[in-house]
Amino acid sequence: MPLSKKRTLTQYLIEQRRRFPQASGELNALILDVSIACKAIARQVALGSLARVPESAAAGATNVQGEEQKPLDVISNEMLIRQSEWSGHVAGMASEEMEQPYQIPRPYARGKYLLVFDPLDGSSNIDVNVSVGTIFSILRAPDELVDTGRDAVEADFLQPGATQVAAGYAIYGPVTMLVLTVGDGVAGFTLDPDLGEFKLTHPDIRIPADTREFAINTSNSRFWEPPVKRYVDECLAGASGPRGKDFNMRWIASMVAEAHRILMRGGVFLYPRDSRMTAPPAPPAAGSSAPRSGNGHAAAETLNAGRLRLLYEANPIGFVVEQAGGRASTGRQPVLGVKPTALHQRIGLVLGSRHEVERIERYHAEPSAREAPAPLFAERSLFRD
Ligand code: AHG
Ligand code: MN
Ligand code: MN
Repeated sequence: MPLSKKRTLTQYLIEQRRRFPQASGELNALILDVSIACKAIARQVALGSLARVPESAAAGATNVQGEEQKPLDVISNEMLIRQSEWSGHVAGMASEEMEQPYQIPRPYARGKYLLVFDPLDGSSNIDVNVSVGTIFSILRAPDELVDTGRDAVEADFLQPGATQVAAGYAIYGPVTMLVLTVGDGVAGFTLDPDLGEFKLTHPDIRIPADTREFAINTSNSRFWEPPVKRYVDECLAGASGPRGKDFNMRWIASMVAEAHRILMRGGVFLYPRDSRMTAPPAPPAAGSSAPRSGNGHAAAETLNAGRLRLLYEANPIGFVVEQAGGRASTGRQPVLGVKPTALHQRIGLVLGSRHEVERIERYHAEPSAREAPAPLFAERSLFRD
Protein backbone atom coordinates (compact mmCIF):
# COMPACT_ATOMS: atom_id res chain seq x y z
CA MET A 1 0.00 0.00 0.00
CA PRO A 2 1.61 3.34 -1.00
CA LEU A 3 2.07 5.89 1.77
CA SER A 4 -0.37 8.79 1.38
CA LYS A 5 1.10 12.27 1.02
CA LYS A 6 -1.08 13.58 3.83
CA ARG A 7 0.85 14.93 6.77
CA THR A 8 0.69 13.19 10.11
CA LEU A 9 -0.26 14.91 13.35
CA THR A 10 3.41 14.83 14.36
CA GLN A 11 4.45 16.60 11.15
CA TYR A 12 1.73 19.19 11.59
CA LEU A 13 2.84 19.91 15.17
CA ILE A 14 6.49 20.24 14.16
CA GLU A 15 5.49 22.75 11.48
CA GLN A 16 3.38 24.69 13.98
CA ARG A 17 6.31 24.76 16.40
CA ARG A 18 8.48 26.52 13.81
CA ARG A 19 6.38 29.63 14.48
CA PHE A 20 7.95 29.70 17.95
CA PRO A 21 11.73 29.15 17.59
CA GLN A 22 12.17 29.17 21.38
CA ALA A 23 9.56 26.46 21.97
CA SER A 24 10.91 23.38 23.70
CA GLY A 25 8.60 20.85 22.07
CA GLU A 26 6.88 20.00 25.36
CA LEU A 27 3.47 21.16 24.15
CA ASN A 28 3.78 18.99 21.07
CA ALA A 29 4.81 16.02 23.15
CA LEU A 30 1.82 16.52 25.44
CA ILE A 31 -0.61 16.79 22.51
CA LEU A 32 0.84 13.61 21.05
CA ASP A 33 0.37 11.83 24.39
CA VAL A 34 -3.25 12.95 24.45
CA SER A 35 -3.66 11.72 20.87
CA ILE A 36 -2.31 8.29 21.84
CA ALA A 37 -4.79 8.09 24.70
CA CYS A 38 -7.54 9.03 22.23
CA LYS A 39 -6.48 6.18 19.92
CA ALA A 40 -6.66 3.78 22.85
CA ILE A 41 -10.10 5.11 23.82
CA ALA A 42 -11.25 4.80 20.20
CA ARG A 43 -10.29 1.10 20.23
CA GLN A 44 -12.08 0.52 23.52
CA VAL A 45 -15.22 2.34 22.31
CA ALA A 46 -15.18 0.36 19.06
CA LEU A 47 -15.19 -2.94 20.93
CA GLY A 48 -18.58 -2.12 22.41
CA SER A 49 -20.03 -5.00 24.39
CA LEU A 50 -17.03 -7.17 23.45
CA ALA A 51 -14.73 -5.07 25.65
CA ARG A 52 -13.47 -6.63 28.86
CA VAL A 53 -14.31 -4.21 31.65
CA PRO A 54 -11.87 -4.16 34.57
CA GLU A 55 -13.50 -4.44 38.00
CA SER A 56 -12.25 -0.96 38.92
CA ALA A 57 -14.50 0.44 36.18
CA ALA A 58 -17.65 -1.48 37.06
CA ALA A 59 -20.93 0.33 36.44
CA GLY A 60 -22.93 1.97 39.20
CA ALA A 61 -20.62 4.70 40.50
CA THR A 62 -21.50 8.39 40.27
CA ASN A 63 -19.16 11.29 39.56
CA VAL A 64 -18.93 14.62 41.38
CA GLN A 65 -21.85 15.96 39.31
CA GLY A 66 -24.11 13.17 40.53
CA GLU A 67 -24.18 11.56 37.10
CA GLU A 68 -23.88 7.84 36.59
CA GLN A 69 -20.36 6.88 35.53
CA LYS A 70 -20.27 4.38 32.70
CA PRO A 71 -17.36 1.91 32.74
CA LEU A 72 -16.02 3.66 29.62
CA ASP A 73 -16.02 7.04 31.42
CA VAL A 74 -13.72 5.54 34.04
CA ILE A 75 -11.54 3.63 31.55
CA SER A 76 -11.12 6.70 29.32
CA ASN A 77 -10.18 8.82 32.32
CA GLU A 78 -7.52 6.26 33.30
CA MET A 79 -6.13 6.11 29.78
CA LEU A 80 -5.67 9.88 29.60
CA ILE A 81 -3.98 9.97 32.99
CA ARG A 82 -1.63 7.04 32.34
CA GLN A 83 -0.55 8.37 28.95
CA SER A 84 0.10 11.94 30.16
CA GLU A 85 1.41 11.70 33.73
CA TRP A 86 4.87 10.23 33.15
CA SER A 87 6.30 12.66 30.58
CA GLY A 88 7.26 15.58 32.80
CA HIS A 89 5.17 18.03 30.76
CA VAL A 90 2.18 18.26 33.09
CA ALA A 91 1.90 20.00 36.48
CA GLY A 92 -1.58 18.63 37.20
CA MET A 93 -4.75 17.37 35.58
CA ALA A 94 -8.46 17.90 36.08
CA SER A 95 -11.33 15.87 34.69
CA GLU A 96 -15.08 15.58 34.71
CA GLU A 97 -14.65 12.22 36.39
CA MET A 98 -12.47 13.40 39.29
CA GLU A 99 -13.70 15.67 42.05
CA GLN A 100 -10.24 17.03 42.82
CA PRO A 101 -7.21 17.80 40.63
CA TYR A 102 -5.01 14.80 39.87
CA GLN A 103 -1.51 15.04 41.30
CA ILE A 104 1.39 13.83 39.21
CA PRO A 105 2.92 10.96 41.23
CA ARG A 106 6.29 11.79 42.75
CA PRO A 107 8.59 9.55 40.75
CA TYR A 108 7.57 11.57 37.69
CA ALA A 109 8.76 15.09 36.91
CA ARG A 110 6.22 17.89 36.88
CA GLY A 111 5.98 20.19 33.88
CA LYS A 112 4.60 23.54 32.85
CA TYR A 113 1.16 22.63 31.53
CA LEU A 114 -2.19 21.79 33.04
CA LEU A 115 -4.31 19.22 31.22
CA VAL A 116 -8.09 19.35 31.61
CA PHE A 117 -10.49 16.89 30.00
CA ASP A 118 -13.90 15.38 29.60
CA PRO A 119 -12.69 11.82 28.95
CA LEU A 120 -15.88 10.72 27.27
CA ASP A 121 -18.46 13.25 26.19
CA GLY A 122 -21.94 12.03 25.31
CA SER A 123 -21.41 8.83 27.24
CA SER A 124 -25.16 8.42 27.73
CA ASN A 125 -25.09 7.51 24.02
CA ILE A 126 -22.62 4.64 24.30
CA ASP A 127 -25.20 1.91 24.64
CA VAL A 128 -27.00 3.08 21.50
CA ASN A 129 -23.87 3.26 19.34
CA VAL A 130 -23.93 6.99 18.66
CA SER A 131 -20.76 9.09 18.28
CA VAL A 132 -19.02 10.05 21.51
CA GLY A 133 -15.74 11.88 22.04
CA THR A 134 -12.94 13.16 24.26
CA ILE A 135 -12.57 16.90 24.89
CA PHE A 136 -9.28 18.37 26.14
CA SER A 137 -7.87 21.74 27.10
CA ILE A 138 -4.25 22.66 27.75
CA LEU A 139 -3.45 25.60 30.01
CA ARG A 140 -0.15 27.01 31.19
CA ALA A 141 0.50 26.20 34.83
CA PRO A 142 0.98 29.33 36.99
CA ASP A 143 4.69 30.21 37.34
CA GLU A 144 4.64 29.69 41.08
CA LEU A 145 3.25 26.16 40.65
CA VAL A 146 6.01 25.33 38.17
CA ASP A 147 8.74 26.94 40.31
CA THR A 148 7.77 25.24 43.56
CA GLY A 149 6.66 21.91 42.13
CA ARG A 150 3.87 21.84 44.74
CA ASP A 151 0.64 19.91 44.24
CA ALA A 152 -1.80 21.54 41.79
CA VAL A 153 -4.93 22.94 43.44
CA GLU A 154 -8.31 24.00 42.05
CA ALA A 155 -7.32 27.69 41.87
CA ASP A 156 -4.50 26.88 39.41
CA PHE A 157 -7.09 25.75 36.86
CA LEU A 158 -9.46 28.72 37.19
CA GLN A 159 -8.19 30.55 34.10
CA PRO A 160 -10.42 32.10 31.43
CA GLY A 161 -10.72 30.07 28.24
CA ALA A 162 -8.91 32.80 26.31
CA THR A 163 -5.67 31.69 28.01
CA GLN A 164 -5.82 28.14 26.59
CA VAL A 165 -2.64 27.17 24.76
CA ALA A 166 -4.27 24.35 22.83
CA ALA A 167 -7.60 22.56 22.83
CA GLY A 168 -9.47 20.01 20.82
CA TYR A 169 -11.47 16.87 20.76
CA ALA A 170 -11.43 13.38 19.37
CA ILE A 171 -14.67 12.04 17.97
CA TYR A 172 -15.33 8.30 17.91
CA GLY A 173 -17.83 7.83 15.12
CA PRO A 174 -17.85 5.89 11.86
CA VAL A 175 -14.34 7.33 11.58
CA THR A 176 -12.17 8.54 14.43
CA MET A 177 -11.01 12.12 14.06
CA LEU A 178 -8.92 14.51 16.12
CA VAL A 179 -9.75 18.19 15.76
CA LEU A 180 -7.17 20.54 17.21
CA THR A 181 -6.27 24.17 17.65
CA VAL A 182 -2.95 25.45 18.91
CA GLY A 183 -4.16 29.02 18.42
CA ASP A 184 -3.56 29.21 14.67
CA GLY A 185 -6.79 28.00 13.10
CA VAL A 186 -8.28 24.54 13.35
CA ALA A 187 -6.96 21.36 11.79
CA GLY A 188 -8.78 18.04 11.54
CA PHE A 189 -7.00 14.68 11.43
CA THR A 190 -8.51 11.34 10.48
CA LEU A 191 -7.22 8.18 12.14
CA ASP A 192 -5.77 5.94 9.46
CA PRO A 193 -6.62 2.50 10.87
CA ASP A 194 -3.91 0.79 8.78
CA LEU A 195 -1.09 2.96 10.12
CA GLY A 196 -2.62 3.86 13.48
CA GLU A 197 -1.72 7.49 12.68
CA PHE A 198 -3.77 10.65 12.62
CA LYS A 199 -3.49 12.13 9.09
CA LEU A 200 -4.23 15.76 8.27
CA THR A 201 -7.41 15.58 6.20
CA HIS A 202 -9.04 18.92 7.09
CA PRO A 203 -6.20 21.48 7.12
CA ASP A 204 -8.16 24.68 7.75
CA ILE A 205 -11.66 24.17 9.09
CA ARG A 206 -13.90 27.24 8.78
CA ILE A 207 -17.46 27.52 10.08
CA PRO A 208 -19.78 29.31 7.65
CA ALA A 209 -21.13 32.52 9.19
CA ASP A 210 -24.72 31.73 8.20
CA THR A 211 -26.75 28.59 8.65
CA ARG A 212 -30.24 27.08 8.52
CA GLU A 213 -29.58 24.45 11.15
CA PHE A 214 -29.92 24.66 14.93
CA ALA A 215 -29.54 22.19 17.80
CA ILE A 216 -31.24 22.45 21.17
CA ASN A 217 -32.93 20.04 23.56
CA THR A 218 -36.54 21.20 23.13
CA SER A 219 -37.77 19.05 26.00
CA ASN A 220 -36.41 21.87 28.17
CA SER A 221 -38.35 24.59 26.33
CA ARG A 222 -40.67 25.37 29.22
CA PHE A 223 -37.63 26.36 31.28
CA TRP A 224 -35.94 28.55 28.65
CA GLU A 225 -35.39 32.24 29.11
CA PRO A 226 -37.31 34.60 26.74
CA PRO A 227 -34.42 35.36 24.34
CA VAL A 228 -33.88 31.64 23.72
CA LYS A 229 -37.61 31.03 23.26
CA ARG A 230 -37.77 33.91 20.82
CA TYR A 231 -34.82 32.63 18.81
CA VAL A 232 -36.17 29.08 18.53
CA ASP A 233 -39.71 30.25 17.77
CA GLU A 234 -38.38 32.36 14.92
CA CYS A 235 -36.43 29.42 13.52
CA LEU A 236 -39.51 27.19 13.74
CA ALA A 237 -41.68 29.81 12.04
CA GLY A 238 -39.55 29.21 8.95
CA ALA A 239 -39.99 30.95 5.62
CA SER A 240 -43.22 32.69 6.63
CA GLY A 241 -41.76 33.97 9.93
CA PRO A 242 -39.41 36.87 10.73
CA ARG A 243 -36.33 34.93 9.55
CA GLY A 244 -37.80 34.39 6.10
CA LYS A 245 -36.22 30.95 5.68
CA ASP A 246 -36.82 27.39 6.82
CA PHE A 247 -34.57 25.85 9.47
CA ASN A 248 -33.68 22.26 10.18
CA MET A 249 -33.13 20.89 13.69
CA ARG A 250 -30.71 18.30 15.09
CA TRP A 251 -30.10 17.00 18.62
CA ILE A 252 -27.62 14.21 19.26
CA ALA A 253 -27.10 14.73 23.02
CA SER A 254 -23.37 14.46 22.47
CA MET A 255 -21.79 17.88 22.29
CA VAL A 256 -18.69 16.62 20.54
CA ALA A 257 -20.88 15.28 17.74
CA GLU A 258 -22.88 18.52 17.55
CA ALA A 259 -19.72 20.62 17.53
CA HIS A 260 -18.21 18.43 14.85
CA ARG A 261 -21.24 18.80 12.61
CA ILE A 262 -21.07 22.56 13.06
CA LEU A 263 -17.37 22.62 12.21
CA MET A 264 -18.01 20.58 9.08
CA ARG A 265 -21.05 22.43 7.70
CA GLY A 266 -22.15 25.21 10.04
CA GLY A 267 -25.06 25.43 12.44
CA VAL A 268 -25.76 26.68 15.91
CA PHE A 269 -25.80 24.70 19.18
CA LEU A 270 -27.52 25.93 22.31
CA TYR A 271 -27.46 24.55 25.81
CA PRO A 272 -28.57 27.72 27.54
CA ARG A 273 -28.98 28.29 31.23
CA ASP A 274 -32.65 27.97 32.13
CA SER A 275 -35.09 28.64 34.93
CA ARG A 276 -34.35 25.38 36.74
CA MET A 277 -30.76 26.42 36.90
CA THR A 278 -31.37 29.94 38.16
CA ALA A 279 -33.99 28.96 40.74
CA PRO A 280 -32.69 28.80 44.30
CA PRO A 281 -31.79 25.23 45.28
CA ALA A 282 -34.22 23.27 47.42
CA PRO A 283 -33.02 22.87 51.01
CA PRO A 284 -31.34 19.50 51.56
CA ALA A 285 -33.31 16.82 53.34
CA ALA A 286 -32.15 16.18 56.89
CA GLY A 287 -29.06 14.00 56.95
CA SER A 288 -28.55 14.03 53.17
CA SER A 289 -25.41 15.24 51.45
CA ALA A 290 -25.37 17.56 48.40
CA PRO A 291 -28.85 17.42 46.86
CA ARG A 292 -29.19 16.63 43.16
CA SER A 293 -31.87 17.70 40.76
CA GLY A 294 -33.42 15.22 38.35
CA ASN A 295 -31.10 16.48 35.62
CA GLY A 296 -28.01 15.53 37.52
CA HIS A 297 -27.16 19.06 38.63
CA ALA A 298 -25.72 19.43 42.08
CA ALA A 299 -28.04 22.02 43.61
CA ALA A 300 -25.17 24.02 45.07
CA GLU A 301 -23.82 24.56 41.56
CA THR A 302 -27.05 25.40 39.79
CA LEU A 303 -27.34 29.11 40.45
CA ASN A 304 -26.88 30.95 37.12
CA ALA A 305 -25.40 27.83 35.63
CA GLY A 306 -26.10 25.83 32.51
CA ARG A 307 -25.75 22.14 31.80
CA LEU A 308 -22.29 21.98 30.31
CA ARG A 309 -19.09 22.38 32.23
CA LEU A 310 -17.00 25.50 31.61
CA LEU A 311 -13.47 24.16 31.97
CA TYR A 312 -13.61 20.89 30.05
CA GLU A 313 -16.56 21.30 27.70
CA ALA A 314 -17.43 24.95 26.95
CA ASN A 315 -13.90 26.40 26.91
CA PRO A 316 -12.11 23.85 24.71
CA ILE A 317 -14.97 23.54 22.23
CA GLY A 318 -15.41 27.33 22.37
CA PHE A 319 -11.71 27.86 21.55
CA VAL A 320 -11.93 25.48 18.58
CA VAL A 321 -15.12 27.13 17.31
CA GLU A 322 -13.69 30.64 17.56
CA GLN A 323 -10.46 29.58 15.87
CA ALA A 324 -12.63 28.26 13.02
CA GLY A 325 -14.26 31.67 12.60
CA GLY A 326 -17.38 30.81 14.60
CA ARG A 327 -18.48 32.27 17.90
CA ALA A 328 -18.94 30.84 21.40
CA SER A 329 -21.00 32.71 23.96
CA THR A 330 -22.96 32.35 27.16
CA GLY A 331 -25.66 34.41 25.41
CA ARG A 332 -24.46 37.37 27.43
CA GLN A 333 -20.71 37.41 26.90
CA PRO A 334 -17.99 35.51 25.03
CA VAL A 335 -17.51 32.25 26.87
CA LEU A 336 -13.72 32.48 26.60
CA GLY A 337 -13.81 35.69 28.67
CA VAL A 338 -15.51 34.11 31.68
CA LYS A 339 -13.31 33.87 34.78
CA PRO A 340 -14.06 30.44 36.25
CA THR A 341 -14.94 30.18 39.92
CA ALA A 342 -14.95 26.40 40.36
CA LEU A 343 -13.41 23.36 38.71
CA HIS A 344 -16.75 21.78 37.83
CA GLN A 345 -18.61 25.03 37.16
CA ARG A 346 -21.46 24.85 34.66
CA ILE A 347 -22.33 27.50 32.13
CA GLY A 348 -24.93 28.35 29.50
CA LEU A 349 -23.47 27.83 26.04
CA VAL A 350 -24.36 29.02 22.55
CA LEU A 351 -21.90 28.32 19.76
CA GLY A 352 -21.49 27.94 16.04
CA SER A 353 -22.13 30.07 12.96
CA ARG A 354 -21.16 33.61 13.84
CA HIS A 355 -24.18 35.52 12.60
CA GLU A 356 -26.61 33.25 14.47
CA VAL A 357 -24.68 33.46 17.74
CA GLU A 358 -24.50 37.24 17.41
CA ARG A 359 -28.26 37.31 16.82
CA ILE A 360 -28.86 35.27 19.99
CA GLU A 361 -26.58 37.63 21.92
CA ARG A 362 -28.60 40.61 20.59
CA TYR A 363 -31.81 38.96 21.79
CA HIS A 364 -30.29 38.59 25.24
CA ALA A 365 -29.18 42.24 25.23
CA GLU A 366 -32.55 43.69 24.15
CA PRO A 367 -34.67 44.56 27.21
CA SER A 368 -37.88 44.03 25.19
CA ALA A 369 -36.84 40.47 24.31
CA ARG A 370 -36.63 39.58 27.97
CA GLU A 371 -40.33 40.29 28.47
CA ALA A 372 -41.56 38.85 25.15
CA PRO A 373 -44.04 35.98 25.34
CA ALA A 374 -43.02 32.67 23.81
CA PRO A 375 -46.00 31.80 21.65
CA LEU A 376 -45.00 28.42 20.36
CA PHE A 377 -43.90 26.65 23.49
CA ALA A 378 -45.41 28.52 26.40
CA GLU A 379 -48.83 29.48 25.05
CA ARG A 380 -49.80 27.18 22.25
CA SER A 381 -49.80 23.71 23.65
CA LEU A 382 -51.73 20.82 22.23
CA PHE A 383 -52.72 19.94 25.78
CA ARG A 384 -53.96 23.34 26.90
CA ASP A 385 -57.62 23.69 27.63
P1 AHG B 1 -21.24 13.93 29.40
O1 AHG B 1 -21.62 12.68 28.67
O2 AHG B 1 -19.75 14.20 29.35
O3 AHG B 1 -21.80 14.01 30.78
O4 AHG B 1 -21.84 15.18 28.60
C1 AHG B 1 -23.11 15.13 28.05
C2 AHG B 1 -23.54 16.52 27.68
C3 AHG B 1 -23.28 16.90 26.24
O5 AHG B 1 -22.49 16.08 25.50
C4 AHG B 1 -24.64 16.97 25.63
O6 AHG B 1 -24.71 18.05 24.78
C5 AHG B 1 -25.56 17.11 26.79
O7 AHG B 1 -24.91 16.61 27.91
C6 AHG B 1 -26.83 16.35 26.57
O8 AHG B 1 -27.78 16.80 27.44
P2 AHG B 1 -29.29 16.24 27.48
O9 AHG B 1 -29.19 14.89 28.10
O10 AHG B 1 -29.99 17.24 28.35
O11 AHG B 1 -29.82 16.22 26.08
MN1 MN C 1 -19.43 15.93 28.44
MN1 MN D 1 -18.08 12.94 30.02
